[in-house]
This record gives sequence, C-alpha cells and structure tokens, in this order.
Amino acid sequence: MSADRWSPDSWRAKPIQQVPHYPNPAALAEAEKTLAGYPPLVFAGEARKLKKALGQVALGQSFLLQGGDCAESFAEHSGDNIRDFFRVFLQMAVVLTFAGSSPVVKVGRIAGQFAKPRSAPTEKRGDVELPSYRGDIINDIEFTPEARTPDPRRLLEAYRQSAATMNLLRAFATGGYANLENAHRWMLGFVKDSPQSHRYQELADRITETLAFMRAIGLDAETHPELRQTDVYTSHEALLLGYEQSLTRIDSTSGDPYATSGHMLWIGDRTRQLDHAHVEYCRGVKNPIGLKCGPSLKADDLLRLVEALDADNEPGRLTLICRFGSDKIVDHPPSLIRAVKREGRNVVWSCDPMHGNTIAAGGYKTRPFERVMSEIRTFFAVHQAEGTYAGGVHLEMTGQNVTECTGGARANSEGDLSDRYDTSCDPRLNAEQAIEVAFLVAELLKGERAGQPAQIRAAE
Ligand code: PEP
Ligand code: CO
Repeated sequence: MSADRWSPDSWRAKPIQQVPHYPNPAALAEAEKTLAGYPPLVFAGEARKLKKALGQVALGQSFLLQGGDCAESFAEHSGDNIRDFFRVFLQMAVVLTFAGSSPVVKVGRIAGQFAKPRSAPTEKRGDVELPSYRGDIINDIEFTPEARTPDPRRLLEAYRQSAATMNLLRAFATGGYANLENAHRWMLGFVKDSPQSHRYQELADRITETLAFMRAIGLDAETHPELRQTDVYTSHEALLLGYEQSLTRIDSTSGDPYATSGHMLWIGDRTRQLDHAHVEYCRGVKNPIGLKCGPSLKADDLLRLVEALDADNEPGRLTLICRFGSDKIVDHPPSLIRAVKREGRNVVWSCDPMHGNTIAAGGYKTRPFERVMSEIRTFFAVHQAEGTYAGGVHLEMTGQNVTECTGGARANSEGDLSDRYDTSCDPRLNAEQAIEVAFLVAELLKGERAGQPAQIRAAE
C-alpha cells in the first residue's frame, strides 16, 4: 500500500468507515471547494516544531500533555471557555514540568475537534430512527430529521470557530497571560481549595520555593520572555477527510504536504484499518500523527501501521495512544510494546485513560476517576517493566466545573452527575479533576525519572 502514489485525495479510492451521508453531494463539494481557498489554520513550520518537540518525548526527554473536549460544540464557543481550558491546561503543565524536570509538550484537543466516530450509524428513540449525531461539523444533536441531516455548511462554521479559537490560544500563549507566575498562582488556588490539599501541598511548596529562588537570581518574566510565553499546539481526530483534504497545503519551504487544520492529527480506534481511507490520508501528510490503539489491535497489525505511517522511523512523527481500559491495560499492551521495541521504532507512547473506562450509571455515561488513575498507573508500570518510556497522557477534560466523571478529591457521586452534566459526547474530567490527574501523574513521572519502580497500586 505505502508504495502507491499518495495525493491529498488518494483516500477517496479506498474503503472508508464512519462516513456521513450527505443528501446533497454537490453542496458538499461546493463547501469543500470554498474551504480549499481559505487560509491555513496552522503553518507547516509549527507542525515541524511540534514534531521536533515530540521527538524529544520519543527519546524520553520530555512529556506529552494532550487534552480537551471530547468534541467541541458550536453552542459553547466562548472566550471564557477557551480561557478556562487554557488556564487549567497550563497549571497541569507547570506541575508536570516541575515533577519531571523536563519540558512538557502541550497539545490541546481543540480548534478543530468537531467530528465524532459513532458505534451505530443511527439512533432509535421509541419508534423513531434517525442518523446518529456525528459532531457539530456534520450535524446537530437535536433529535429531529432536519437537525440530524448532515449539512455541508457546518464545515465552514467549524473552520470559522477553529480559526477564532486558534487566534485566542495564540494570544494567550504569547501575549503575557501564560506567564509562569500566573500559572503558579492559579495552581496554589487549586491546592488551597482541594479537599486533598495535604497531598499536593508539598509539591506546590517546592514549586513556590523554586520560583522564589529564580526570582532572587534575576530570572523573572520581565527579563526572560520564555517565562511569560509558551507553545500550545492543536490537535483533533482526522475523521472527516473531505475537510482535511480541503485544508491540505504544500509547504513552500519543503515542498511537502501538510494538514493545516491543526498541528497534530490522530486516527481513531474505529478507523485505523491499514488499507482504508483514514490511514491513506494520514500517511501522506508530514504532520505529527497519533494512532489510537485499543484492545482489538494485534502486534503484527500495529507494526504494519507503524511502517505505513512512519516509514522513515522519524522520532516525533508517530504517537501511539493506548486506550485499553483499566481492566485490560495489564494484559494487552506488553505484546505491542515488545513488537515496537524489537523493531527499533522511535514512537511516543501515550495513555488515553478515558475511552476504555466509560460506564453507564444513573442514566448517564460516566468515567470513574479511580479507573482513569488506575489505567495511568498501570501504563507507567507496564512501561517500566518493558524498559520503555511512558511518554504522555491524552485526556478528555474541560476548564469548567462540570459533573460528568465520578470520584476525585471531591468524591463526585453518581447522584451528583445530573448537577452539571454538560457534555454532548463523552464525560470529561472537570477542572479540579484534571489538575488532580496532573499531580498524580507528576508523582509517577518523578518515579519514572528517578528509575523507581512504579507499582500497580489499588485505586486511590
Ligand atoms: C476520541 O478520542 O474521542 C475517540 C473517539 O477515541 P477512540 O478512537 O480511541 O475511541
Ligand atoms: Co471521546
């Protein structure tokens, strides 16, 4: 397959999963044509910079923090939402940077994360059967025939929202808001308010002392721009390939094709078939690529995918995002890790502790915090045992105070889920739960750096 010629539209000749049915293909083609004339959302040099940063992760010298909404929504597109996410994300990064004594590569599931793979093409309520909701870039969540009909105009709206989000993220990242002292102050606020504050206090105090020391020797944000700005990258699942194709551009510096809809794209667990369209599209663009690895993936299939997606074995090109579930993470990954290691592949191993841990409770889809943590802990332990590097986490999270996942320091119960259950897709960690994960991952990362055995401990 990989010997075949690639072009931005070569995926169209391949079998494909998860395609919406547009009743008006001419309108779809028109919207894609319009998009193809629009400016790129990111530029190739940035994607290359991210690939280089991820290359450091592949070598064990940096850590990947990837996270954001399960799916962004048109209705929740506000500056406050973006700001709150950014704040939480930055606090998490500060904690992880300090614990790991290493840079943290920050990649949001944001500014383009609009399309959702579904397990069933239709949804039935009573006697009525309609197309499934596939994300705001495709159709609307409301359960009416009009709302559920895929509408090509949504591609343009998703582009517009991504551009506005990207613009604000860039402003926050470089305009002074991302000042390290700010992130530190917010983090202290979190620790003070957390019911588990005793657990986080020591690490928080050490960060405070370090910053005071840095200030004392003249290392402050006034004199050192790197302390008041940061790099935040964007990523999303490359699911809607017509959208991706329309935003594929040839980089004038290198002559290479890049997806310019976001810095990093990933292939979902449902669309990773070797000879199918999603792998075909992603193999040809030069961005960093993620590949979701779930329980049905066999080691030899993984090796074929790695070869197709990263023929040059380039560090930072490929991130393998494991999403097994806390009950399966012990048994499945070792064979994959061994195969990849045996072939000398320079991949990043990251842990998505969300998608294998979704359960139904009290009429809601939820994720118990302790299962999320248990999967992350086992992920670190498995890598320790295999002599490989646990390089990152991939989270579904929000900066808002939602009640979608149970547990955490505030011990959200199943009965609390109805309070602020705002997601239109999967349940997300709320702001406090997300920062708590960062503190707990920080302990694991410190152990990994110090070569201490990570234990498979009982749930917190
Ligand atoms: C996702 O990341 O939103 C997702 C659907 O994950 P997966 O493909 O791993 O199921
Ligand atoms: Co999800």
